Amino acid sequence: MLLLLTLAACGKHVDDSAAPASVTYYKDVRPILDNTCARCHNDNGISKSFDDPAVAQSEAATMKAYTQSGYMPPPAPTTSCREYANSDRYLLSDTDKATIAAWADAGAPLGDVVADTRDTTLEQLSYYDLEIKASQPYSPVFTNGNVNDYRCFLIDLNNATQEYITAMQAEVDNTKIVHHVVLFQPDGTDDLYADGTDPHDGFSCSGLGQQNWQTLGAWGPGDNPTVMPAGIGIPLAPNSQVVLQMHYFDSFDGANLETDQSGYGMQLASSVDHTATNYATGPTNFTIPANDNAYSSHKSYKWTSSDEIIAVWPHMHLLGSGFDETVTHTDGTEDCLLHMDSWDFHNQVTANFLAPEPLVAGDKLKVTCTWDNSADNPNQYNDPPIDVSFGEGTTDEMCFGFTLVATQ
Ligand code: HEC
Repeated sequence: MLLLLTLAACGKHVDDSAAPASVTYYKDVRPILDNTCARCHNDNGISKSFDDPAVAQSEAATMKAYTQSGYMPPPAPTTSCREYANSDRYLLSDTDKATIAAWADAGAPLGDVVADTRDTTLEQLSYYDLEIKASQPYSPVFTNGNVNDYRCFLIDLNNATQEYITAMQAEVDNTKIVHHVVLFQPDGTDDLYADGTDPHDGFSCSGLGQQNWQTLGAWGPGDNPTVMPAGIGIPLAPNSQVVLQMHYFDSFDGANLETDQSGYGMQLASSVDHTATNYATGPTNFTIPANDNAYSSHKSYKWTSSDEIIAVWPHMHLLGSGFDETVTHTDGTEDCLLHMDSWDFHNQVTANFLAPEPLVAGDKLKVTCTWDNSADNPNQYNDPPIDVSFGEGTTDEMCFGFTLVATQ
């Protein structure tokens, strides 16, 4: 359990010698692209697939330029802070950068064909015990200049017995319009029937959910499955109901004509050794001044029991430029949970910890976000910049570390 403590606002060169002597696409480059790039660059992904050798060849010079500048792959939690289960899928090693550069410099040779051994298991759970989705396809409604539409669906899980979620993943149907998905567990649903319509058919809702809704899981663009260590799971009482919350964003002409029917897939266990809870931690009453290129806001919590942190999913919107989550233990030592010194809205990955972080009563958890609200930020959407406050729209800002905690 956590208690609110304080709230405050405070204000390459590449070494080519590491590359193999004669690099080819099939032998050296495609395995790197498969590992680090293909989760976005694939036939159904948000950018072009490099599986086609001709496309990869035509992009070789850009690949070199983007990987050397650090533009690609997009920013991800750094391993200087701590190791995560799939860090090598998000960060490119210096050796891999040198291999791509040497390949581009050599004219992007294809070499002898080698069978593709791409492993997609870290992008996609191999099976689901339970798959849920919105009851019907939905087209977002953007009215009166409102570019955000939050739509919630009440879903009956129909689980006859107590279950525990051990792994989960959003199944996003239309990535062009979906800006986030949150799965909540409501504590009572009578209020959802208040307007006389059936909440299973979908209803308009706040992006922050309701006071009596517990977060089970959350997804943003680029996110990967949450996989809990063996013996840990989030409890689902018999005949649980969940609320699937969709955030649709109007970013192109015709977005309101698109349809979406997203959902969640889960792996379940009938018993676990420890239960897990997802805490949405972070400040919610900040205003980022116009033209400030490094404004920070943080929130601290005092822990009141013995637990273990097993994963963190950082979440900000478009102006984010840095994220930090730390624990200060009762003996004064500080451990880094997650650190990012840059941010990309389209690459919000769940950091599944390799080693859990133990917590005891008295430890302090701190979540800090930093934003660049200057005209120089390439993601700036206000011309000229204006003050931006906490809010649920994509052009408001957020700062959450969705912190998954296993109880002892
Ligand atoms: C989290 C998703 C993501 C990952 C991972 C990713 N990219 Fe990209 N990449 C994009 C998006 C989105 C674009 C198009 C928009 C842009 O240029 O920013 C892009 C554009 C590119 C382009 C320009 C071609 C184009 O389609 O416009 C190259 C080249 C590229 N990426 C290389 C890479 C390489 C090499 C890796 C792996 C080392 C990588 N990317 C990893 C999302 C990703």
